[in-house]
Amino acid sequence: MNSKSITDSIREKLDIVDVVKDYIPNLRQAGRNHKACCPFHNEKTPSFTVSQDKQIFYCFGCNEGGDMFTFVMKMEGLTFVETLKKLSLKAGLQWQETEYHLSEKDRERLAIKKVLAAAEEFYKKLLFSSNGEKARLYLGGRKLSKATVERFAVGFAPPGEPALLQELQRKGFSKELAVKAGLAALRNSGQVTDYFRNRVMFPIKNAAGETTAFGGRALDESQPPKYLNSSETPLFAKRRTLYGIYEALPQIRKTGRLLVLEGYMDVLTAHQHGITFAVAGLGTALSAEHAAFIKRHSRDTILMFDADEAGINASIRASDIFMEAGMYVKVADLGEELDPDEYLNEYGVEAFEKKLLAAADPLEFRISALLKKSPGPLASQDKAKLIELLLDTVARQTDEILKSEWIKTLSARFDVTQEAVLRQLSKKSVAAGKESRGAGNEPPPAAALPEIPAIELGFIHLILKDPGLIACAGELAEEDFQSPFSKKIFSAVQDGTGLEPAKATPGLLALFPESAGLIMKLSVAEISSDMNPEQNAAKAAAMIRKLSLERKWKSLKTRLGALEPAEIAEFRRLTGVLKSTAKKGTD
Ligand code: GTP
Ligand code: MN
Repeated sequence: MNSKSITDSIREKLDIVDVVKDYIPNLRQAGRNHKACCPFHNEKTPSFTVSQDKQIFYCFGCNEGGDMFTFVMKMEGLTFVETLKKLSLKAGLQWQETEYHLSEKDRERLAIKKVLAAAEEFYKKLLFSSNGEKARLYLGGRKLSKATVERFAVGFAPPGEPALLQELQRKGFSKELAVKAGLAALRNSGQVTDYFRNRVMFPIKNAAGETTAFGGRALDESQPPKYLNSSETPLFAKRRTLYGIYEALPQIRKTGRLLVLEGYMDVLTAHQHGITFAVAGLGTALSAEHAAFIKRHSRDTILMFDADEAGINASIRASDIFMEAGMYVKVADLGEELDPDEYLNEYGVEAFEKKLLAAADPLEFRISALLKKSPGPLASQDKAKLIELLLDTVARQTDEILKSEWIKTLSARFDVTQEAVLRQLSKKSVAAGKESRGAGNEPPPAAALPEIPAIELGFIHLILKDPGLIACAGELAEEDFQSPFSKKIFSAVQDGTGLEPAKATPGLLALFPESAGLIMKLSVAEISSDMNPEQNAAKAAAMIRKLSLERKWKSLKTRLGALEPAEIAEFRRLTGVLKSTAKKGTD
């Protein structure tokens, strides 16, 4: 089977409405379309639209759109082939891991995944071999059970010999591929050798459970860095990756609850104690991409970082990013100089759950963090400075109700009038508006519409909604249109006469990717007209034809003295035609 027939078979078995509903259960019927709040940008009134007739989706707010494949690719960050695999399973079709329909890029990704899987096996095997004793002791010292270690496929990269590289080559993988996958590195000596040595290895998996990278913790404190991550590869970008997401997703889906911790150890320990909705970033700040992903999967997000200064600052930064993405987020404070994993091992899961329940909203969290730093009565200038910092958090809140609650909170907590808080905030919002912070929550500016005469746009809209209406075009020809967009859509629909509506739009999208936005928008947008579509289309077609003839007539008229005989004949003919249509028009 080639990829063409796979996509066709999937299209036959699946309906885009069902596919979208897997991710957006509250997708609702509205007229001929289905609607929901857009998963790709932050909005309060639904402009995300799914057309069952056309089997496409389009968001009128951010202009994202496409078919069921594009939708899943965007939602899950998968490649086309990964998406095919997922949807063919959903459709109950056989999936063959054939490679011949893969693009060069997909083939490379697949090769990298294979070598990573081989490395994972090798590291796992070593952990439980006699060479792995030191690593096993270390994990035991961190109170991790064998079951947890196995669930997360933890392994061990040995010191000394480039053991992994030897094993991979024995299995037929090339050195180049090992380097590309981030498993081997070119040393100064010019030799290629293992990248990870003497480390406890944590496979980093994507949401589908495929290993895309590793994190390795040094066993020897004199061997920095403490944690070493794979370098970025075509499969792995830190700003998009959450450690533990694959293991946590089932529980997150079930409860809508997600906990973000700081590190690998925290995640493992949390899961071991039954907190199976925990994930972590990869030692870098959480990004807008993380926020967008989490927003799609969780209603109830809690951040819990280490209780040190760095952890507090990271909590504030992360909650800023989450708020800007239009999410509700809370911050849990362990209240002691213990990391979450230490806390769990010391006090147990009940105490831990209490801390989760007591999680504060970002403003409360920041108030207590600041007051902890400057206890005692505040001089007025210190108070002003403090409120200024807190307004930073308030300004990022996109929920207006919460924002006004926070203004009340500040006013009450610091004994200043709400009005003063508000005025100070409005200065801040203006300043914040000036610097573009690009957190990714604003929809991109709507793509400027090309110059298309309204009547042409109206007609194209009709035939995109129902390609069968092309039959009402009468004498209308491609050359009668003024805009290149109308010309190409008209002639393509004419060429595909008789196509069912569900095939026309995907076909046009494939033909004219440069106009995808407009094609989808028109295919999905409802038509508001009392007239019946056939009449409407026929009238518009006649009007476009007439305007075109008039333009021709005028251009001949301006050169009347210099016309060739054939042109004179054409001018006469046009004069006649236009007269008769004018008459008809006044009937
Ligand atoms: P353990 O001592 O293993 O418990 O680590 P920790 O929890 O004390 O480490 P810390 O709180 O400092 O780090 C939390 C997370 O930050 C880790 O899980 C890593 O993802 C990341 N991290 C910590 N140190 C390093 C480092 O040296 N390099 C990199 N790349 N990441 C690090
Ligand atoms: Mn720790």
